[in-house]
Amino acid sequence: MEKSSGKKNTAVLISGRGSNLRSLIKYSKTKKSLIKIVLVISDNISAKGLNYANKSNINNIVIKYSDRKSFEDRLLKLLKINNVDLICLAGFMKILSGKLIKKFNNTILNIHPSLLPKYKGLNTHKRAIHNKDKFSGATVHIVNDKLDSGKIILQKKVKILKSDNEKSLGKKVLKIEHEIYPKAIIRLLTSC
Ligand code: GRF
Repeated sequence: MEKSSGKKNTAVLISGRGSNLRSLIKYSKTKKSLIKIVLVISDNISAKGLNYANKSNINNIVIKYSDRKSFEDRLLKLLKINNVDLICLAGFMKILSGKLIKKFNNTILNIHPSLLPKYKGLNTHKRAIHNKDKFSGATVHIVNDKLDSGKIILQKKVKILKSDNEKSLGKKVLKIEHEIYPKAIIRLLTSC
């Protein structure tokens, strides 16, 4: 659903720190941005990322996660009311149902801190270091009904140095996450 401004109404789902949300807000404020962030949803009332939404006067709502069905019922209502066209998961720690994913077919993106298909799930940096990988990186992909498995939109590598540990690698990867998420959105929205 294209809005008169031509920008896609975007919802960002978070659970914690929100540094990717911050980078998406920054992008959305640029002149050429293809998105307008109309809604930020968190399943966690203490998510630090909510502060970024507040600072930028973006409508933000906490939906308590008691069970998936009631969470998603409320989420769907909010997405509808706000005419959301694109959903960006940014450190959102809950798994969405196949039913919801189908409803938003090919319009839910996720960012993951590894070079998918390597290291789906958690503790990606720990596993990359443990396996003595030479590279790690970040991936933006479409969300499908299998964990961290949808079509890859954009990926960028970073070198793992001998001196790296989980923390230093995480920092390097996070930096490129902030760079590639907006780029992946542009790629997705200009390729269809
Ligand atoms: C990021 O590393 C992202 O790739 C992963 O969760 C982390 C969220 O960080 N899915 P932040 O909340 O965006 O700072």
